[in-house]
Amino acid sequence: MEFTVKSGNPEKQRTACLVLGVYESRRLTLAAEQFDAACGGALGALLRRGDLEGKPGQSLLLFNVPEALCERVLLVGCGRERDLDDRRFRQILHHAATALDDTGATEAVVYLSDLAVKGRDLRWKIRQAVEAVEESRYRFDLLKSKKDAPRRPLRKIILSVPGRRELPEGEQAVREGVAIAAGVKIAKDLGNLPPNICTPTYLAEQAHALAREFPALRVAVLEEAELEQLGMGALLAVTRGSAQPAKLIRLDYGRGPEKQKPYVLAGKGVTFDTGGISLKGGEGMDEMKFDMCGAASVLGALRACAELQLPLNVIGLIPAVENMPGSRATRPGDIVTSLSGQTVEILNTDAEGRLILCDTLTYAERDDPAAVIDIATLTGACIVALGRHPHGLFSNHPPLAHALQAAGHAAADRVWELPLWEDYQEGLDSNFADMANIASHKDGGAIMAACFLSRFTKKFHWAHLDIAGTAWKTGKAKGATGRPVPLLTQYLLDRAAENEREDGRAAH
Ligand code: BES
Ligand code: MN
Ligand code: ZN
Repeated sequence: MEFTVKSGNPEKQRTACLVLGVYESRRLTLAAEQFDAACGGALGALLRRGDLEGKPGQSLLLFNVPEALCERVLLVGCGRERDLDDRRFRQILHHAATALDDTGATEAVVYLSDLAVKGRDLRWKIRQAVEAVEESRYRFDLLKSKKDAPRRPLRKIILSVPGRRELPEGEQAVREGVAIAAGVKIAKDLGNLPPNICTPTYLAEQAHALAREFPALRVAVLEEAELEQLGMGALLAVTRGSAQPAKLIRLDYGRGPEKQKPYVLAGKGVTFDTGGISLKGGEGMDEMKFDMCGAASVLGALRACAELQLPLNVIGLIPAVENMPGSRATRPGDIVTSLSGQTVEILNTDAEGRLILCDTLTYAERDDPAAVIDIATLTGACIVALGRHPHGLFSNHPPLAHALQAAGHAAADRVWELPLWEDYQEGLDSNFADMANIASHKDGGAIMAACFLSRFTKKFHWAHLDIAGTAWKTGKAKGATGRPVPLLTQYLLDRAAENEREDGRAAH
């Protein structure tokens, strides 16, 4: 889909379809009113007849509106003006895009960026509009022999801005929205692929493909022999039962000043999690193909970062493994030595994410990072604690936690912080090694997993995102969400803006 911005009055648009908002109950939005005045009150008359209440989810397609230059008008219900928040705005755009797809229009001029969304500016609305339209059009039918995609002639969406002065801002918002949506799409595609296709080797190939597309990205893939040499005993313990070779994928994006410290994104890449010898129950086990969604979000965020050419140094680290039972698999009770030198008693082989991440986090020390953020579908307990709306957030550095909260709000991809207090740590005590990989009790599972990781992050600012509840949807709408690509991209956009401000100050 192509997106552009344009200023100008709705009645002047010679387009296949004009999209206008109607509030409940039957009140025209500003743009709709303007259009209506120019067309002799046709819309007002129609609403008075009761054809559209203006409730969210409603829409009405009109042809041959008297004196209009456009071929069609799509009226979209926007609900009550004072209820118009983030969520509602996205719903409205989702509905508008779905309704547009059912028309024969090849392009549309959309006047919904003038809706007053509480606390949000034009840039936000345009970016969200792009993301919502792409979201509504996403299908994963690669592996269906009959594609269910209907005839969809819509190719171009033109988003309105109030005047010529707002064009540059609008264009930048479109660029950001397009880059984020493309990052979300690759994260969804990788998540949705079946585990017999999306293996650690496949993830490594995708990283290479991304680097071919964006020359600012460089890839290196560490193979098992190298991981062995480095001493990544915890990571290797997870892959032992699998016939698929493990990989540690590293992506380098270096468009920042040479002496600027890199931001590291580390994503859990378990391409299938059976639990290993501590085998999971059968119900819903297919969903453990999504256990690499952290890895997918790192690829998506780096793609967005490269497309936006952000002046930053960013490193993506992806430990990619398959967690399988087998005669060579790690047993409960096995003790391994992590890259940090700390020993770990593996009491449950299903707590594997923290094992691959702890070695990856220690490895990140080498790059003297500005901050390290790991992203992982780490614990079912996080879903119990927070449900499926926010990502769980943990950090050893309050300003970093704050920056992620701010980015989550700005990108409408929210986090909720959970505590990482010392009080919890003793739960990981082991009688036989430096620590156990699970707590001795059942309480606070998401926190205990984060406590485990925190023991490998003493040398840098670190945050952990537990995306177990947010990376995919279950049930009828089962599928990857592409989250937290918007959050991560926003975080990087914010860092780029912050550096720019600091450079500006330094120059004075
Ligand atoms: N990948 C799972 C976490 C998970 C489970 C995410 C269900 C989303 C839905 C992780 O590897 C795991 O198995 N965690 C265990 C940890 C436990 C053994 C301490 C869990 O959450 O049950
Ligand atoms: Mn597991
Ligand atoms: Zn897992």
